[in-house]
Amino acid sequence: MNGMDALEAMRTIGANRSYLTKDVPDEVVYDAVESARFAPQGGNRQPVRLVVVRDRAKKERLAELYMPWWKAYFDAAEGGTRNLGEYASARKALMAANDFAEHLADHPLIIVVCAKLDALHITDLEHDRPSVVGGASIYPFVQNLCIAFRVVGVATTITSLLVGSEPEVKELLEIPDGYLTACHVVAGYPAKGFPKKLTRAAVEETVFIDTFGNSIAAPDAATE
Ligand SMILES: Cc1cc2nc3c(=O)[nH]c(=O)nc-3n(C[C@H](O)[C@H](O)[C@H](O)COP(=O)(O)O)c2cc1C
Repeated sequence: MNGMDALEAMRTIGANRSYLTKDVPDEVVYDAVESARFAPQGGNRQPVRLVVVRDRAKKERLAELYMPWWKAYFDAAEGGTRNLGEYASARKALMAANDFAEHLADHPLIIVVCAKLDALHITDLEHDRPSVVGGASIYPFVQNLCIAFRVVGVATTITSLLVGSEPEVKELLEIPDGYLTACHVVAGYPAKGFPKKLTRAAVEETVFIDTFGNSIAAPDAATE
């Protein structure tokens, strides 16, 4: 895999906030999707379609649509992080995301992830909670795509705020009826390289054995 294994790629995909202006050519996109398309999906129904936007006017329109959603999020989040020393890293991430939003049209690619509605095998519509199973036929493909890009040095950020403007995005890109938008992947060569260490929940907080809450034990270093 071009000198990088899958585990290293997974551990060093952060939400990349600044990009070089260097283009990501179609052949790089093609090669990444050539691997990403092997993602699983319910009933193997192949619901995912990608619209790769590099046209400046279209990116500007996407940026314009994104901004009100971002501003609302930012204002709420900023209120929570302002003047709080212990949240310095959260605040730094927020300001980087703000910069990312303000330059959205400058990032090389905005990939609009679409899915064919009747090809999603949705098994959780009857519960008294939001349905999520449809996404399980979409997002493994998206993560595969991010990993495939990462392996060849292309950085990404997954965003979902713009899904709020789905009707306008569909009109802009002529996405037909019967398709939804699931998220957007901004992609480009990173201006500041890839992260070495990401902040995530520990395995013990995430994995339980037999009963929820019964944390898995870390392997004994001596027996590893
Ligand atoms: C489903 C999903 C939706 C997201 N939506 C947005 C978004 O709309 N705007 C944004 O700036 N970042 C968005 N992000 C990026 C997250 O903020 C980022 O993955 C998270 O803060 C971890 O950042 P790190 O990888 O740099 O540690 C989204 C990520 C995911 C997985």
